[in-house]
Amino acid sequence: MMTAEQLQAKLANVKVNGAACSYTLDKCASLVPMINAINEIKKQRNAVILAHSYVAPEIVYGVADFTGDSYGLSKDAMGTTAKTIVFAAVRFMGETAKILNPDKEVLIPGTDSGCTLADAVTGADVRALKAKYPDHTYVCYINTTADVKAECDVCVTSSNVYDIVEAIPNDKIYFLPDKLMGRNIQDEMARRGVNKEILLYEGTCYVHEEYDPEMIRFMRVKFPKLEVVTHPECAPEVVKASDYVGSTSQMLKHVAASKEKDFLVLTECGLVSRLQAEHPEKNFVGACTMCRYMKSNTLQDILRVLIQPRREDRIEIDEDVRKRALASIEAMFRYTEGSVPGRA
Ligand code: 13P
Ligand code: SF4
Repeated sequence: MMTAEQLQAKLANVKVNGAACSYTLDKCASLVPMINAINEIKKQRNAVILAHSYVAPEIVYGVADFTGDSYGLSKDAMGTTAKTIVFAAVRFMGETAKILNPDKEVLIPGTDSGCTLADAVTGADVRALKAKYPDHTYVCYINTTADVKAECDVCVTSSNVYDIVEAIPNDKIYFLPDKLMGRNIQDEMARRGVNKEILLYEGTCYVHEEYDPEMIRFMRVKFPKLEVVTHPECAPEVVKASDYVGSTSQMLKHVAASKEKDFLVLTECGLVSRLQAEHPEKNFVGACTMCRYMKSNTLQDILRVLIQPRREDRIEIDEDVRKRALASIEAMFRYTEGSVPGRA
C-alpha cells in the first residue's frame, strides 16, 4: 500500500506550470486511495500497466509497471507474461501492443486517444502513394495506425529512425507522416554523407511544431551554460540549434548523464515532470507544451477499464491487417537489434 507521504516524496519536486501542478501532501492524500485500488485490482486481473512518460506523474510513479518511449514500451509489451495490458498513452501505442500480442487483452484508458501524426494519414492514402511511387521503400513512424503500418515496409521510432533509414538498401525512401522529422532525416543523411531521395508526407505533431529557435537563443542569453535537449519531431531549425536530439527515453538518459545544471527540454511536459522528479539537483527552464491526448489518461479511467472496460477501451485489430502491420514492426526490430526480441 502506498501512503500519501511516499507518493509526495517521489513527486515533491514536480512543478510543471507552477503551483497548479504541485503535489502537496493533501493532493497526494487524495490520489493514493485510487492508486492503491488500481494496484490491487491489477494483481487480481493479472494485468500490467504500461505508461508513456508524457502521462500524468501520478500514473508514472503510482501505478505503472513499465515506463518509457515508444520503442521501449513496445519491447516491454512483447516481454510481459501478464494476461492484460493497460496502455496509458495514445491509441497507436495500444495498437502496437496488440499487434505484438494478439492473444492478450489490451485496454486503453485515454478518453481522447488520438495523435495529430497518427490521424494525418490512412491506409488508403498509403496505397495511393504506392501506386504513384512504386519503387520507394515505405518507412512509417510508429505514430501511425495499424492500417498504415500494414501498408508500409518498415516502422521506425524516434530512437532508431536515422540508423534505419541509412541502413535500408534502397536509395528511394518514402517517409510518413511527420514532415518535420522527415526534414530532420534528410539533414542527418546529408550530414552522414548518405545520398537518398526521401519523399515526405504533410503531417506534424501539434505539440512539437510549436517550438522555435528564437526561444532557444533567448534562453541561452539568460542561461549561458544551458543545455538544449530536443525531440526529433521539432522543426529542423530547432533541432540544429539544440545540443542533443533523441527519443524521450534517450533525452532522459542524456540529462541524467550530463554534468550541466540548466536544461531547456523541448518536448511534452510529462518528460519535464519526470526529469524534475528524478533530478531535483537540476534546473529545468522555459516552457514545455502539453499533449491533450496523452493527458486524457487519468487514474479514474485506469481503474474503470480494469473493472468494467467498454468496447471502445479494448483494442481489436483485423487479423490480416495485424499480420501485415507486424511485418513492419518486426522489420524495425531486425534493423535495430539484428533479430526480433524473444523470437530469434
Ligand atoms: P518517443 O517514442 O520518443 O517517446 O515519442 C513518442 C511521441 O509521441 C512523441 O511525441
Ligand atoms: Fe502525437 Fe504529438 Fe501527442 Fe506525441 S505529443 S502523441 S506525436 S500529438
